Amino acid sequence: MISINDIRKPILKDLEAFDAFIAENFSAEGELLQEMLTYALSSRGKGIRPILTLLIASMHNPNAIREGEISGETQHCTKRTYLAAMLVEMIHTASLIHDDVLDSADERRGKPSVNAKWQSNMAIILGDYILARTMALGMASAQYDLISHIGSAMATLCEGEVLQSQHADKYDTTRDDYFEIIYRKTASLLGVSAALGAMSAGANRGDVERMQKFGEAIGIAFQIQDDILDYKRDNNTGKPANNDLREHKITLPMIEVMERASEQERQEMKELLRRADEDEEALNKLHNIVVDGGGLEAASEVLKSYLTRAMHLIHKYDDTPFRRSLINLCTFIAERDM
Ligand code: IPE
Ligand code: IPE
Ligand code: MG
Ligand code: MG
Repeated sequence: MISINDIRKPILKDLEAFDAFIAENFSAEGELLQEMLTYALSSRGKGIRPILTLLIASMHNPNAIREGEISGETQHCTKRTYLAAMLVEMIHTASLIHDDVLDSADERRGKPSVNAKWQSNMAIILGDYILARTMALGMASAQYDLISHIGSAMATLCEGEVLQSQHADKYDTTRDDYFEIIYRKTASLLGVSAALGAMSAGANRGDVERMQKFGEAIGIAFQIQDDILDYKRDNNTGKPANNDLREHKITLPMIEVMERASEQERQEMKELLRRADEDEEALNKLHNIVVDGGGLEAASEVLKSYLTRAMHLIHKYDDTPFRRSLINLCTFIAERDM
């Protein structure tokens, strides 16, 4: 089983520099804001997006490739790459704070969510504050190519969240809708995380585009796995299980089972979903129909096809510790329970 620490190994020093960069730049005026900010930043999550940025920047940096075999002991990236990694991780952090308001989720990274601790109105302001600080830091750095690339992903992420909410209200998410939603809300930012890694290291346009596709493919897989884990009560995500069903979200495991069900069974599943937020029995019944119907395994097969596509896109690169870590990241996404 691949751990996140295995993946981090070649860029350990870079991750330390990146952490210091965030600590230096994120503080707030005002006691309450500072308290909330410290709370939100004190549990940092897996850091998949900055890991992607730093690994891909290193993979495109000839000096880093030479140093590669002594990796983990030196820094391979420039300040421009740390800035890129900061931009994507902070946008992600803010989006989770807002997402927990939208999803009425009371747990995040094993602790009460910001909205659970300080109410939704404060969570909205905190998310906005993080976004505003992030963009201000970006502008102050004058790295306009990175900033303009990230702007569109921020808008796309919001579009995905709204689209998802519209479908949840109508109980009508199809397979096509589902892929549209997860592309927008998750894959686009992972695509940008990867593209910015290449861009910040001075890669050519073709490589930047290839890395964007790589990030998007693993982003789709990453969200499918997140949706599978939502069905698992013994997961280690630090998030409540079954929150998607409670929020009337039809995700890939349920779509897989619905597509193979009779019209009558489909209607029954939708009826159970309608009641899932207030009726624990309906929730459990629907959960069991999806799990017993093989929905998790079927979704996992789809996820693997995206990872195969992703691995193909990094095929041409030299066999360095950075590329090996990216391959391990693909395996981790398929196996993770966190
Ligand atoms: C959670 O993202 C939201 C999704 C896009 C699935 P992560 O699983 O990357 O969250 P953290 O940052 O590790 O907590
Ligand atoms: C991803 O979707 C949310 C964002 C991209 C902001 P989820 O709603 O499934 O994420 P979790 O499960 O709450 O982390
Ligand atoms: Mg959520
Ligand atoms: Mg989820």
